[in-house]
Amino acid sequence: MSKATKARVPHPDLERVLVTEEKIEARLKALGEEISATYGQEEITVVAIVNGAVFFTADLLRRLRTPVRLDCLRVSSYRNSTRPETTPRILDALQIDIEGRHVLLIDDILDSGRTLSVVVEELRKRKPASLRTCVLLDKKVRREVAIEAEFVGFTIPDRFVVGYGLDFAERYRNLSCIGVLKPDLQNPPEWA
Ligand code: IMP
Ligand code: MG
Repeated sequence: MSKATKARVPHPDLERVLVTEEKIEARLKALGEEISATYGQEEITVVAIVNGAVFFTADLLRRLRTPVRLDCLRVSSYRNSTRPETTPRILDALQIDIEGRHVLLIDDILDSGRTLSVVVEELRKRKPASLRTCVLLDKKVRREVAIEAEFVGFTIPDRFVVGYGLDFAERYRNLSCIGVLKPDLQNPPEWA
């Protein structure tokens, strides 16, 4: 790696930067336009999966011209490991009614697809007028459940990434870029 490339990596635990802050900014603007064009002035009820989607949701919603209601869901999934638990569970109930509403479900990353499909199934039971999904990142090659998002920030390769909301053991969420975590920092022996 050249000295110049190294200097741009903003955290020592990152192997490399995958998506820069500037690229995120540009994509947010385009995605905001895309979503605003889809819904127009029809109010949407955004359901964000926390903690991962916190940064993405906050930045994206401020770029929408569409009126918005917001609520959050918490889903159990990765714990302190890069290996997912097999069945994600919804841990927090929604606080607002979504029946007859246009719902936009937002998550940080679509990986195996388990998390999103479990949440989509739950939300459908509440009979929204429409239900679309939006993810910051899509690791298409990892899919185990047939599900695609209507709005995607970036399609990325099969690497474990952190930053801009994405974590490893709740760390690195506040990095401004999205980077690949050094492999020796994933799954430390005490968490095996
Ligand atoms: P899925 O259920 O396998 O689609 O996984 C979705 C969840 O796994 C996301 O909401 C993330 O919390 C987590 N996840 C998957 N891949 C990554 C990654 O590369 N970095 C950080 N978290 C990830
Ligand atoms: Mg996570």
